[in-house]
Amino acid sequence: MRRRVTARAIEMLGCGTVANPAMSRQLLVRTININPPTVGNGANERFRSTSSMQGYTELARERSKTVTSFYNQSAIDISAEKASVRLTPTTLLYAGKSPDGHHVLSSAKYLQKELPVRIAHRIKGFRSLPFIIGCNPTILQVHELYIRAYHVLSDFPLIKDQETEARYSKLVQQLLDDHKDVVTMLAEGFRECRKHIQDENLVRNFLDTTLTSRLGIRMLATHHLALHEDNPDFVGIICRRLSPKKIIEKWVDFARRLCEHQYGNSPRVRINGHVAARFPFIPMPLDYILPELLKNSMRATMESHLDTPYNVPDVVITIANNETDFVIRISDRGGGIPHTILEKVMDYHFSTAEDSAQDPRMSNLFNNITNSGPQSGPMHGFGFGLPTSRAYAEYLGGSLSIQSMQGIGTDVYLRLRHIDGKGESFRV
Ligand SMILES: Nc1ncnc2c1ncn2[C@@H]1O[C@H](COP(=O)(O)OP(=O)(O)OP(=O)(O)O)[C@@H](O)[C@H]1O
Ligand SMILES: [Mg+2]
Repeated sequence: MRRRVTARAIEMLGCGTVANPAMSRQLLVRTININPPTVGNGANERFRSTSSMQGYTELARERSKTVTSFYNQSAIDISAEKASVRLTPTTLLYAGKSPDGHHVLSSAKYLQKELPVRIAHRIKGFRSLPFIIGCNPTILQVHELYIRAYHVLSDFPLIKDQETEARYSKLVQQLLDDHKDVVTMLAEGFRECRKHIQDENLVRNFLDTTLTSRLGIRMLATHHLALHEDNPDFVGIICRRLSPKKIIEKWVDFARRLCEHQYGNSPRVRINGHVAARFPFIPMPLDYILPELLKNSMRATMESHLDTPYNVPDVVITIANNETDFVIRISDRGGGIPHTILEKVMDYHFSTAEDSAQDPRMSNLFNNITNSGPQSGPMHGFGFGLPTSRAYAEYLGGSLSIQSMQGIGTDVYLRLRHIDGKGESFRV
């Protein structure tokens, strides 16, 4: 059940880090399987080795094709030199809806130009990683995913009618699916090569840029696909009248279910402030950030009340809306973030998950509930929740800040700019 809930979240978000180490391990196994299989003994040996030889040849061909594409990439070099064209949400919103579907066609034409450029920038990023990090099998696998995406998108014929647009949309959907585990793969890959990392800033910059650019690409791609749908509340991915309260409630339900699976209970959540506010906004980044912040608050609440798990303080969420931006504050009474780690919680891969697992009161819970090792559970994993949420918020012209009252609890402030507000809007 826990697996199902977690897997569903990953599927829904695609941008999230809802950690699923078992899945990451599977991915890793797949990578490792690229290695030649061992040849067995006995009567079947010759037969086996013949088939292995064929396997070798195929693998070698596949391998050399991929390796070639790492070097033979003048097209990628040229695209990587071009600047990407980032659109304001207002442009996306008011691009107009024509009855003959012309808006879908022009959106596809924009994507066809834009996606290869953005993907080429990402490939350039992978190529600039230090050798030993770039060679990590999981990171290499993501690098290859981007190279493949670049090629299939660039090889696609020029979109000029609805028929080519429909095929293009299918391809874009396929690529979105192929890339949905990229955040988990990067988290796993960088964790594997932690010991080789000397410059922490290098990882931070790479992950900030790669993850936010990926969010931008996924927003544009999903926007285009959503333009085909006829939902009066939406223009593509933009919700015309988003209710922050409603979207918070959706993720509260989700986080509470995860929490109950792990701890047997979950804190109640009270929402106050501008609960009736509604405005145009893109739910997608909130769909990533809110579950991460809620999981953190609920975990802290439960773990600071392990002796009284059926009597825990509520989490309180306050919504503040104004002409320029809106703020969501999540206040918990989970004991706060200790002075000693406050500086580190925004670092990629910083997590106190292992400390929790060592608490004897927790180990029973962990052993009963997770089957993916003592250091991870559905409520915490790679130490990616906060840094990724902050990077996403900043990418959208907002911020994520933390106030810890050590001994009592934590307030997290998520601030996001309106897409039609007084200040300058962000660009996707
Ligand atoms: N509300 C909170 N109260 C107390 N500690 C917190 C709170 N939020 C985060 N932390 C601390 O910050 C650490 C990093 O948080 P982050 O969300 O980045 O990673 P994680 O929850 O450990 O793993 P992941 O989010 O990737 O599943 C946590 O392990 C926890 O120690
Ligand atoms: Mg977290």
